[in-house]
Amino acid sequence: MLVLGIETSCDETSAAIVEDGRKVLSNVIYSQIDIHHQFGGVVPEIASRKHVEKISYVVDMAFKQAGLTVNDIDAVAATYGPGLVGSLLVGLSFAKALSFSKKLPFVAVNHIEGHIYANFITYPELMPPLIVLVVSGGHTNLIILKDFEEYEVVGKTRDDAAGEAFDKIARYLGLGYPGGPAIDKVAKLGDEDKYKYPVADIDGYNFSFSGLKSAVINHVHGLLQNGEKFKIEDIAASFQKTVVNILVEKTINLSLETDIKKIAVAGGVAANSRLRKEFYEKCTQHNIEFFVPEFKYCTDNAAMIASCGYFKLQKGIVSSYRENAVPYISL
Ligand code: KG4
Ligand code: ZN
Repeated sequence: MLVLGIETSCDETSAAIVEDGRKVLSNVIYSQIDIHHQFGGVVPEIASRKHVEKISYVVDMAFKQAGLTVNDIDAVAATYGPGLVGSLLVGLSFAKALSFSKKLPFVAVNHIEGHIYANFITYPELMPPLIVLVVSGGHTNLIILKDFEEYEVVGKTRDDAAGEAFDKIARYLGLGYPGGPAIDKVAKLGDEDKYKYPVADIDGYNFSFSGLKSAVINHVHGLLQNGEKFKIEDIAASFQKTVVNILVEKTINLSLETDIKKIAVAGGVAANSRLRKEFYEKCTQHNIEFFVPEFKYCTDNAAMIASCGYFKLQKGIVSSYRENAVPYISL
């Protein structure tokens, strides 16, 4: 079964064709990062206008790269939320129109759920049950995926998402947008044990990163005010280590408690080199299998949406054209 996936929830216009939920035939991404970079973050109005400009071209390219035409596909899947409403509407409307005109089933996909499926692309044999940590610019979710389409969210962030903390601290340090890759890069040159930052005492499997974010920013502010010398690399490395430790510890604990010895990570922050290394080491220590998507499937892409759409269709889930863009939805 061939599914066309469309993703426009934030600043990437993406279209992909995926066979049987696992095999990517094409995955075209037009990134607006260079446009938003100058503003230090995504400007919603500009983002939606760019999606309108690019969507037809990106979908065309997805067909061309796969060597297929619209008559070859079996279904259309698109992200309906969460995300920027104007941006979501572009991809969603395009997908509905295409599905209606070609009489193809249409599936609306939750973006956070979509991220999980990047793992089923990277590991064609991977099957649930598994523990999944979705960490991106907008979300931090710890999930027990019991089966395809059957999951329990056991932890969330109470405030900032992990990626948001990266982005805000990077912005304060003058490292630009997006902050995650910038911090990842400079942290490699820093001493991660130089500074100790606070870890929020938060219940169960939930997270909180806003206190940590403020602590880092206040710390740098104090250093600047006192004219003390410091290296941005040390700040970035110490902050990154703290975030990574929090994420890894809670995820490992959930795996041990549930006895589900498979952990997968997903979302933009899953591209973080320190996070990947720490997970790999801790999982090896505890005899847990560790899965992480290829870099190109960590950040926003339509292949993961097409994959998720396929598994929904396999469970008999088809969406109505009444499905609207929803900026704030959880899993
Ligand atoms: O999944 P994604 O592309 O978009 C959302 O769904 O939010 O994730 C983007 C987030 C941004 O916060 C970005 O700074 C972060 O992922 N990110 C990283 C890295 N690459 C992207 N964070 C830490 N280290 C990275 N290497
Ligand atoms: Zn995302």
